[in-house]
Amino acid sequence: LLLDVALIGGGYAVGSVATAILVARALGLGDPRQSGSGNPGATNILRIGGKKAALLTLLGDLIKGVIPIVAARLLGLEGWALAAVALATFLGHLYPVFFGFRGGKGVSTALGILLALLPMLGLSILGLWMLVFAVTRVSSMAALLAAIGAVPTVFAVSSATSMRVLVLVLVLLVLWRHRSNIRRLLDGSERPFKKR
Ligand code: G3P
Repeated sequence: LLLDVALIGGGYAVGSVATAILVARALGLGDPRQSGSGNPGATNILRIGGKKAALLTLLGDLIKGVIPIVAARLLGLEGWALAAVALATFLGHLYPVFFGFRGGKGVSTALGILLALLPMLGLSILGLWMLVFAVTRVSSMAALLAAIGAVPTVFAVSSATSMRVLVLVLVLLVLWRHRSNIRRLLDGSERPFKKR
């Protein structure tokens, strides 16, 4: 149990490392929570800092989803304990202890977590995200449809109740964190990225 608690705490700490804020700081872009959509994530870094900075943010936030899962697995965790490490990591990204508990919307980190935990699910939602983004050029739309698509997919790829519940909780949190995007999508004011 001590090991489980340590890994859950460790996951929360790793999740709390807000890549967007660190990348923006390093590049002298200021706090991403003060510009663009105000979200510390790869999409908003793309708006305010360009492609390289956005890719760096995406990779950082994705890898921090992978690390705690790989560590927990190597140390023998499975089932509900593994799900708890995943949720703690995700919550670290949303509510980072190092950055005033004002974090991101969780898309890149959830992708990292799911690629490590259930690769088939991770790849499916990555594909769905890319497809929707290619068609709409709206990052939040891609995230929302990928999140919704994750629900039937997890039921298809895993029979473990812990994994199904984990994914449901992650999806609900992603939807909740996108509530301002949902409002903008509904009133037609969510801006697409320019076509390449
Ligand atoms: O991953 C976040 C993305 O779905 C939306 O970001 O900056 O457009 O609110 P943003």
